[in-house]
Amino acid sequence: MDKKSTYPFRRLHTGIHHQVLRNWSSTNSFITADSLMYPIFIVEDPNANEEIPSMPGVYRYGIKTLLLILENLVNNNLKSILLFGVINTLIKDETGSNADSSENPVVKAIPLIRQKCPELVIACDVCLCPYTSHGHCGVFNSEGFIDNDKSIQRLSEIAASYAKAGAHIVAPSDMMDGRIGAIKERLVSLGLNNVSVLSYSAKFCSNFYGPFRDAAKSAPSFGDRKCYQLPQGSSGLARRAVERDVEEGADMLMVKPGLPYLDVLKTTKEQFPDHPLFVYQVSGEYAMIYHAAKAGAVDLQKAVEETMTSFRRAGADCIITYFTPQILEWMASKNKN
Ligand code: PBG
Repeated sequence: MDKKSTYPFRRLHTGIHHQVLRNWSSTNSFITADSLMYPIFIVEDPNANEEIPSMPGVYRYGIKTLLLILENLVNNNLKSILLFGVINTLIKDETGSNADSSENPVVKAIPLIRQKCPELVIACDVCLCPYTSHGHCGVFNSEGFIDNDKSIQRLSEIAASYAKAGAHIVAPSDMMDGRIGAIKERLVSLGLNNVSVLSYSAKFCSNFYGPFRDAAKSAPSFGDRKCYQLPQGSSGLARRAVERDVEEGADMLMVKPGLPYLDVLKTTKEQFPDHPLFVYQVSGEYAMIYHAAKAGAVDLQKAVEETMTSFRRAGADCIITYFTPQILEWMASKNKN
């Protein structure tokens, strides 16, 4: 065969000239309602509806407002949520007592959400930072260092209280060693065998959490989180952290943040292809895209959809994103056309 006459002989365009053909080559990249989880901040005041200044379009809701919002979102195909509690009047102390007290806004909200939206999957973030006086994700020993073993006992108590209230999934975001095992053990000992653990397994010490710390009022009052969150340059520690969590029995894994860590997402999927893998498009990523679109630098819908496709291509089975309501809206209007 005369190669010159057919050059270039690898002709990829012949496989992508029609949407149906493009779909066949993108089977892992489809965005479905199932593959989206919506993070929600919930406060004590039942009527609250406060926009978060650093995350325009994202609100802190009280339970009354939230139930109304959820009804619409579920009608629009929302399948799962991730709840974060934020406290104003309840006391913050050394051990985060109000993370699992009966007054905690998440503990109070779960049964009501289950009643109103029985099909909705409810995950709860499990952490100490929104409830401790120092704003760190663990408890301290008398020398002023994080006490890992005490922290994981506390975290397992908090996870158990959300599970008892009716959460389908508990999601520890603290990054202490051994927390998955401690939580699993406590859930089993309480007979809560149908509650899954979604581990924030490869969670990096990131600058993109800034708006979230405003939203959750959870910025550390001193120091930073470098001693328990992963160093930005280390894919080796990410692999070891994921392996640790799988060994301890995590049902689902997570990489966080999203876009700056797509490589870690891909290698995590390759490392453990049989565990559902989540990616968290965090608050700073949300703000970045929101403001870029606002300034006319990118088209919001197209840019958001491109990030979704990238997450799916890199191996994410589910994407946690503050854009969920908009994406569901876009899906609904595409289906109408
Ligand atoms: C709490 C927690 C954080 C996020 C989720 N859970 C903040 C942090 O670790 O500092 C960040 C989520 C986001 O930025 O959207 N430990």
